[in-house]
Amino acid sequence: MLFELSEEHQMIRQAARDFAQQELLPGVIERDNKQEFPAAQIAQMGELGLMGMMVSPQYGGGGMDTVSYVLAMEEISKVDASASVCMSVNNSLVCWGLESFGSEELKQLYLPALASGQKIGAFCLSEPEAGSDATSQRTTALDQGDHYLLNGTKNWITNGNSASYYIVIAQTDVAKGHKGINAFLVEKAWPGVQVGKKEDKMGIRGSDTHSIMFTDVKVPKTHRIGEDGFGFKFAMKVLSGGRIGIAAQALGIASGAMELSIKYAKERKAFGTEIMNHQAIQFKLADMATEIEAARLLCLKAAWLKDQHLNYDIASAQAKLFASTVAMKVTTEAVQVHGGYGYVKEYHVERMMRDAKITQIYEGTSEVQRIVISRDLIRG
Ligand code: CAA
Repeated sequence: MLFELSEEHQMIRQAARDFAQQELLPGVIERDNKQEFPAAQIAQMGELGLMGMMVSPQYGGGGMDTVSYVLAMEEISKVDASASVCMSVNNSLVCWGLESFGSEELKQLYLPALASGQKIGAFCLSEPEAGSDATSQRTTALDQGDHYLLNGTKNWITNGNSASYYIVIAQTDVAKGHKGINAFLVEKAWPGVQVGKKEDKMGIRGSDTHSIMFTDVKVPKTHRIGEDGFGFKFAMKVLSGGRIGIAAQALGIASGAMELSIKYAKERKAFGTEIMNHQAIQFKLADMATEIEAARLLCLKAAWLKDQHLNYDIASAQAKLFASTVAMKVTTEAVQVHGGYGYVKEYHVERMMRDAKITQIYEGTSEVQRIVISRDLIRG
């Protein structure tokens, strides 16, 4: 067993770290305040190769492995979780889903723009009444011969307005239950697609989360992803990889909050000495570092399994469950270390605490991860 990162992995991590510090950090508080999508920064991330890291070079991607993706996600998330969720959805839900299961025609048509970050993608699964219970799709796509007619509403869609392309999950045959669900590549510009209201969120406020309405949208047959009836399994497979990305996001939020806490503890004085000299603070930092390291190992293990083409469904659920719990705990403690300063925006950790919460909710709540893990234990 080897715990060392290769030189290439270290270079990727350093490049993402430098970018985050130089380009994301300066405006991150203002974007959070104004709920402003980091459009210019996402374009730069595209140029750096961060928006299609795992896409094969033949479709314009970086051809990198999942370990590289986790390392880069951690660094971007340390500074700006709104930028990193855009990166995560584009990389692991949209690009990976399309490259792994889309037709050659769809890949050639859409991947180069998505992988280079010239266009952004979104993943439309959740509905007003189908969040965790993802098989209860109300959105329909009725077979009309040469096309499907898509109708329905999707909720809480990350990149909802900034995306040009959506992967939409819809019911094509209600009688068949989850086997009557399909996935489609839909363009935002098509008639009948409407971007609904922007959500006013607790955290990741720079990320644009919208409802999307589809009214009699004609979707060509060629735009179905995979065999007829593959849509639910497609969503589950894509989310298994996506959860590695969100676990890495949670890891990054936690490690960013710890770094700020260490810096603050070395500067702030109380009771005649820097607060780092108080055991109350030292023990908090020790617990943060230990739990973050455990979360990092789970993230890297899930990524490694994926890179080895071994089953990673349980590893990704465990990584997301654990890393998101650590993110919530560490950011809460980081606010505590900062005291009154932690409660104001200037010191970043209050934003990180708000950002951490969503990692326990999207791409499968912590309860859904426990369902996935416990079912596997029971199946044996
Ligand atoms: N790979 C392949 N197939 C899978 C699978 C996987 N990982 N997981 C399940 N399946 C298959 C099952 O084998 C089953 O098929 P068969 O009947 O042929 O055996 C089928 O899918 C249905 O599975 P279940 O019976 O387990 O389905 P369920 O209704 O009990 O639901 C669930 C299981 C785990 C709760 C699932 O519904 C789930 O993951 N829900 C959460 C959805 C989610 O993560 N939403 C996030 C929205 S996207 C998002 O947040 C993106 C963003 O913007 C950031």
